[in-house]
Amino acid sequence: MSDDLDRIRADSIERIQSARDGAELDDLGRALLGKKSPLVAIRRTLGDLDGDERKVVGRALNEVTEALKAALDQRRAVFAEAERAASLAGERLDLTERTDRLRLGHLHPITQTRDRLEDVFTGMGFTVAEGPEVESDWYAFEALNIPAAHPARSMWDTLYVELGEPGTTLLRPHTSPVQIRLMESQEPPLYSVMPGRVYRNETTDATHLAVFHQIEGLVVDRGITFGDLSGTIDAFTKAYFGADVESRLRPSYFPFTEPSAEFDVQRSDGSWLELGGCGMVHPEVLEAVGIDPEAWTGFAFGFGIDRLDSVLNGIDDIREYQRNDIRFLNQF
Ligand code: DAH
Repeated sequence: MSDDLDRIRADSIERIQSARDGAELDDLGRALLGKKSPLVAIRRTLGDLDGDERKVVGRALNEVTEALKAALDQRRAVFAEAERAASLAGERLDLTERTDRLRLGHLHPITQTRDRLEDVFTGMGFTVAEGPEVESDWYAFEALNIPAAHPARSMWDTLYVELGEPGTTLLRPHTSPVQIRLMESQEPPLYSVMPGRVYRNETTDATHLAVFHQIEGLVVDRGITFGDLSGTIDAFTKAYFGADVESRLRPSYFPFTEPSAEFDVQRSDGSWLELGGCGMVHPEVLEAVGIDPEAWTGFAFGFGIDRLDSVLNGIDDIREYQRNDIRFLNQF
């Protein structure tokens, strides 16, 4: 009997040593120690042995079982270490500074897109303006014709800042407040775009970020019509996406424009990409900043830069833009 056990032990250890991967090792563990294993078969015969022999064989059986378990664990550790080393090697980034291989970095893809958008609009005669990211309720909502209890407030899940009266200071949820600041500080005619970072009280997922970027447009002049809005959107989309790209407007609602629309551009596969919102500046908004709506009219538009970039580049998880993984960023 003990010869049998010695043989089983030697044979099993050899098989364990030559297992090639974790899956093979799992199968082997079941074959060597499981219900149908030779060791269990021997254990079943223990009852037939007399007292002393039963003790000797029982002890030897336990020893072999323990030895096989230990050998399995050891082999498993070897595989785990090899797997770890392989995955480390795969993720290895060479960060050594080498002057013989100097590589310049580049701007973040969102910054590149923002720059290109600014170029297109400045080429059309627009100036570029900016405003603060921490805003007051007045600029973010009130002056944009969205009073405190207005149901449209739920269009923007706003993050408030603990400063002053509760609910009066916030992280701007859109770039539209910059329109108000611009109209307050400059006399029309105005032709401006206003890019910048915006914040929403939003759970992030593959298509939503809590911190992202928008670009706003505002034109105020004498005799501006909806035709000017539609022509400007079309000129911009053709300049940015290519002369053969079509744009379209669909009726929509925003409190600060009347009438309001959403605009889409047509992709090469024929599908429409929903880009942003626009409309004729609401007379209430002009009045809020002391511009006479009888003398001046205007249009405005706004859209998300991150979304535009992710759709154009086929990025299916928009959060990639904020993970700062150099392997993602190097593609741009
Ligand atoms: N501020 C809007 C938003 O964040 C986008 C927008 C719509 C801006 C219409 C505009 C506009 O200037 O006219 O959803």
